[in-house]
Amino acid sequence: MSTPSTSPDLVVVGDASIDHYVQVPHLATSDNKAIGRYLGAFGGGMSANLAAAAATQGARTRLVTKVGTDREGPSELQALSDLGVDVTYSVQDATHRTWMCFVQLDSTGEKALIGADTGIKIPQRDEIDPSALHGARIVAPLADDLDWAARIAQSAVDGGAQVAIDLEPDAFGPDDPQLHQLLSLTEYVFLNTASAQKFHPHSHARAAAALHELGPGTVVVGRGEQGAYCSLADGSTVTAHAPAGVPVVDTTGAGDALAGSFLAGVLQGRSPEACLRTAVANATACITRVGSRTYLTEPAPAPSTTEPLTIERTLR
Ligand SMILES: Nc1ncnc2c1ncn2[C@@H]1O[C@H](COP(=O)(O)OP(=O)(O)OP(=O)(O)O)[C@@H](O)[C@H]1O
Ligand SMILES: [Mg+2]
Repeated sequence: MSTPSTSPDLVVVGDASIDHYVQVPHLATSDNKAIGRYLGAFGGGMSANLAAAAATQGARTRLVTKVGTDREGPSELQALSDLGVDVTYSVQDATHRTWMCFVQLDSTGEKALIGADTGIKIPQRDEIDPSALHGARIVAPLADDLDWAARIAQSAVDGGAQVAIDLEPDAFGPDDPQLHQLLSLTEYVFLNTASAQKFHPHSHARAAAALHELGPGTVVVGRGEQGAYCSLADGSTVTAHAPAGVPVVDTTGAGDALAGSFLAGVLQGRSPEACLRTAVANATACITRVGSRTYLTEPAPAPSTTEPLTIERTLR
């Protein structure tokens, strides 16, 4: 893992997990069991996935994460490095295992995910070398521990960078002052449908409008099979309709692929339409494979019945 000669444009600070997949006949629910087939361990983690998506889209990207010195951790960092992510500021901990997830997948692509925090999901503040953020144009902290994320966001803003976050529905309450503090520092916010519903129960457009009021200039809502929606603070919007007929195998990490690819486009000075088009294309590729980054290392299946992705832009 060599040190890159240029400073990164995007610094992602957060998690890298090992995802264990089991193909099950049905998803196990409360007081129920599902015995299935082990499909293997795959690199995952929202931050690692986002960084990998951005790097493979050509953005100079650094990931500051924390893994164990177990068998999986160092090889995980190597795999990310092989995808072009600078991992030289990532931390290894000999006393804990790399954090992991257990994913049940049924034959329809439906999933249930259990995260097992091993105590080192993210690097602590004092483990992050302050020079890791130097020169960054965008910093993307994992928005899981909101206070931790807001502190990193503040350092990023103080250093002249913009902040990007991806809000998972379980990680926040819409009225939480800590969330509002983080959003006041944030320029790019990504949400899925469940997260958007926390800001408006029926309308992703109104959810985006509510988010603009709290700070972010760009709001991107991942809408699953419906595609994605991008709202800009000037009132213009971009809607991407996902191609129909895509074989859905595993949607884990699709939102991370969307966010990382979108940010790479932003850093390359591309238009919101171009950013969203590439982002949805990569998220679509992601869901055709087991594992949240497999689409980056294995060629996509030949297009068959899929229809083209379409984009609509409205200007205020
Ligand atoms: N079932 C699906 N069919 C077609 N496209 C999908 C589907 N699920 C996800 N996508 C694509 O992936 C993008 C992100 O999806 P979504 O917002 O639902 O992910 P997410 O819930 O954030 O996923 P994760 O948190 O696991 O990364 C969507 O905008 C869409 O382009
Ligand atoms: Mg998501």
